[in-house]
Amino acid sequence: MGRIDSLALMRVLSVVGNRPQFVKSAPLSEALRTTGIDEVVLHTGQHYDPELSQVFFDELELALPKYTLETGSASHARQTALMLPGVEDAILAEQPDVVLVYGDTNSTLAGGLAAAKLHVPVAHVEAGLRSFDRRMPEEVNRVLVDALSSALFAPSDVAVANLRREGIVEGVRQVGDVMADASRRIAPLARERSTALADAGVEPGGYVVLTLHRDSNTTPDALRSVAAGLAARAEPTLFPTHPRTRAALEAGGIELPAHVRVMPPLGYLDFAALASQARVIATDSGGLQKEAYWYGVPCVTLRDTSEWVETLEAGWNVLVGTDSAAIAAALADPPRAAERPELYGDGHAAERIVEHLGTMGRR
Ligand code: UD1
Repeated sequence: MGRIDSLALMRVLSVVGNRPQFVKSAPLSEALRTTGIDEVVLHTGQHYDPELSQVFFDELELALPKYTLETGSASHARQTALMLPGVEDAILAEQPDVVLVYGDTNSTLAGGLAAAKLHVPVAHVEAGLRSFDRRMPEEVNRVLVDALSSALFAPSDVAVANLRREGIVEGVRQVGDVMADASRRIAPLARERSTALADAGVEPGGYVVLTLHRDSNTTPDALRSVAAGLAARAEPTLFPTHPRTRAALEAGGIELPAHVRVMPPLGYLDFAALASQARVIATDSGGLQKEAYWYGVPCVTLRDTSEWVETLEAGWNVLVGTDSAAIAAALADPPRAAERPELYGDGHAAERIVEHLGTMGRR
């Protein structure tokens, strides 16, 4: 049978559930469609608020999920467990050749675990990343999903080396980063179309973009310390706020400096427009550290570790944790190296992934 015929018969079940995964799946869905591989999408329901979920489907023109679970929010173990029966049912109904999972969230683990239990090969996009901090739920998810995966699509040489150190060599491919694909395609459009800067009354290079949502950063102490760090410099600071962070600010009675503007979470286009034209980005997100690099915007990372060590080594990112003095110093003098070599691929990761998925064939 020719390759095209076997591709046309292939079926992939993509498991997505939260914001960054919708973005990562966009270039892959397109590449799968182009190649004629049948993609069925399952949404775990981890993110359910329209501004964290539906807006991405609308803007990125993603195919609607065939399966949407009603998982909702819960503690990490419980949330993962709640997803498993629905993912298992979908795998049994669809009989996919491969289950595709993205990144390091509880949805990633649920997808990988259910597939592996049913002996369906798991393909992990963004394999091999490590913060070496197992207190992060994401680190636990990464390590476990990599151990379960048959195809491991690593975004960088460092990720490949991390896997090798854990004895994982087979099925590993350095393909670049699908977020680079999305970012290259969409950021220029976003700057053209979005009115987010005008709406916020800011000029390119004249403001900070802030995001904060990690477990460890939404405690009252961490939030107070970040607020103190931001107070040192009265510059417009746009803060699209994750619902859990907003709730934590309210519950802790924590006041932010007046120049910090709490806003609702934004869609991909408005966010890309704002982030790509900021003077500096302050964040605890993983993906945003890379996006900042691709945009040529210095990044101040509100964590003690990073999986995206290349951005630190390149001199465009700095780790400050939640220490007020370190935050203030980094915002006053953000890291900006003379050069910005290409990191995490050339924007064609999705095509490479799909090409390899094609060789996995029908079981
Ligand atoms: C999850 C991922 C994180 C990723 C982030 C992207 C895990 C362990 N964490 O974190 O790696 O960076 O998504 O945004 O999977 N909530 C809402 N509405 C929603 C979803 C959540 O209000 O639609 C609130 C709830 O209070 C919930 C809290 O946010 O308890 C945390 O949500 P959850 O999905 O558990 O984790 P995230 O912080 O979003």
